[in-house]
Amino acid sequence: MALDMTPEQREIGKANFGRVSEGLTRRDFMKSMALTGGIVAPISAAAYFQYASEQHPSLDKPVRAALIGAGDEGGVLAGEHNPKYLEIVAVCDIRPSNQKRIFTGEPTGPRRGLNFHYGRNANKDILVYTKIDEVLARSDIEAVIIALPLFLHHPIAIKAMQAGKHVLCEKLMAWNITQCKEMIQAAEKHDRILSIGHQRHYSLLYAHAVDVMHSGVLGDVRHIRALWHRNNARPKLDANGREVVPPAYRDSWKPDIKEEDRVALENDIKKYGYKSMEELVRWRLYNRTGAGLMAELGSHQLDACSIFLGKVHPLAVSGVGGRYFYRDEREVDDHVFVTFEFPGLNYFKEGSHEVKDKDDKVIVTYSSINTNQFEQYGECVMGSRGTMVVEKEENIQIYPEAGGRSLEVTVSTTGAGKPALEASSTSGGPSTPVAAAAAGASGPPSRGYREEIEHFAYCIRMWQQGMSKSDRPNVRCPGPNAMADAIIALTSNLAMGKQQRIEFKPEWFDPTNKAVPDAEMEPKIVTG
Ligand SMILES: NC(=O)c1ccc[n+]([C@@H]2O[C@H](COP(=O)([O-])OP(=O)(O)OC[C@H]3O[C@@H](n4cnc5c(N)ncnc54)[C@H](O)[C@@H]3O)[C@@H](O)[C@H]2O)c1
Repeated sequence: MALDMTPEQREIGKANFGRVSEGLTRRDFMKSMALTGGIVAPISAAAYFQYASEQHPSLDKPVRAALIGAGDEGGVLAGEHNPKYLEIVAVCDIRPSNQKRIFTGEPTGPRRGLNFHYGRNANKDILVYTKIDEVLARSDIEAVIIALPLFLHHPIAIKAMQAGKHVLCEKLMAWNITQCKEMIQAAEKHDRILSIGHQRHYSLLYAHAVDVMHSGVLGDVRHIRALWHRNNARPKLDANGREVVPPAYRDSWKPDIKEEDRVALENDIKKYGYKSMEELVRWRLYNRTGAGLMAELGSHQLDACSIFLGKVHPLAVSGVGGRYFYRDEREVDDHVFVTFEFPGLNYFKEGSHEVKDKDDKVIVTYSSINTNQFEQYGECVMGSRGTMVVEKEENIQIYPEAGGRSLEVTVSTTGAGKPALEASSTSGGPSTPVAAAAAGASGPPSRGYREEIEHFAYCIRMWQQGMSKSDRPNVRCPGPNAMADAIIALTSNLAMGKQQRIEFKPEWFDPTNKAVPDAEMEPKIVTG
């Protein structure tokens, strides 16, 4: 995602990341690699995230789960889940087209379909429901995976926990922060696992990046630039290659409404809580059902930036956003540009919220646009000794600050015993297999969906063994962590809507405190 990188420089950056990983592992600074018999190798996700392998006795029986919401993301989760850990025994969706696609899948990509995992007769064993209550009433179902539009996360997750189910709910956690707090309280009250689907918590690539960050090898990091850019501004063409009239644009947030769905649902759509078929199928476009680019895309990357910076919460946010491109009925912005102030290591007095050094800040900028994808998506961490680029959840590149983009790097040890990045005089040699694997050069690594579901199932089985609360393993993105991501995303919307710099208050992040940033947003946010 760096602006003017050549393919050769990218390869050098990836190989550099591998060398840095090896150097850090040898100096014992890297957890995501293992040193066995002098050989450095990436460790498995199960070992890194500390959940049992498939042979573990606690996983004798996979967790029986229902998938609620079988659309695009439900399709990804169904395609990526590992039936040895979690078996999908029921599906709930109201759209006939998606009730079929969840079984057949798609010819390419991660939506492989339930038939891929359970065979061509999967729909004989896996019952399809349209009423969520009927699924929740099934006593043999232990857990639910919720991949519904944002506004339904809170009511359905709470109902499911009340019915005794463990919950893996897609991000953004909820439509507002009061709802997030209620979900956390429901999990506590009913003693259920509540996991939220920010899959970067289960990506080994991000684990590598976090290890690099925390080793200090990049030097003094004062700026992270994150972005997710797409280009929907290319007009649709007809069968003859001519622009359709009136002009229409590609837009994954505004898919066509399938005739079979319209025929089946249009007359009854209000019964399901929607105003129209448009609202059901294009829920991302409306404030009542979605929360825009910051909720859908920005939350993932701000989640990553917060993890890079040691899971700290930001201090303040300001930004500009608007509907600058689309001229249609949508209510959410199509371009957002947001600046976050994060605390540096010495901003607060240790262990308190008292400010020690008000100038010790790290600035994170985030943009998500719809009219250019020259750069696509990723995060660029800029330190005084080096730059780390995490690109499209696929690879990591590192460049030394001194010497630029065409030099190899190695890791040396400073007088204080800390690792430091060194540019070597040679330029870009071939990467070792370890370097390539670590950097994601040998094909896209797992984005974390599979591991997220495996770990969820593992935690369920461990909880069922009757351990004390303090001994039970928990998921890596439980309610309070995901609520922080929701606070960041939704407060950004508020800052853009009100055109104000907003300071984050510590009590917003406390699930037991009623204070929320968005009280004044209700019933709907003000948009630019
Ligand atoms: N983690 C990620 O990277 C990621 C990526 C994409 C989407 N998501 C999240 O996943 C969720 C779903 O997004 P999507 O892209 O799959 O949307 P989608 O519109 O493709 O799918 C939603 C599905 O829910 C069904 N549905 C809606 N209301 C229902 C009801 N009352 N009862 C039963 N079924 C109902 C719809 O028919 C549809 O099939 C969202 O929260 C989104 O933010 C996460």
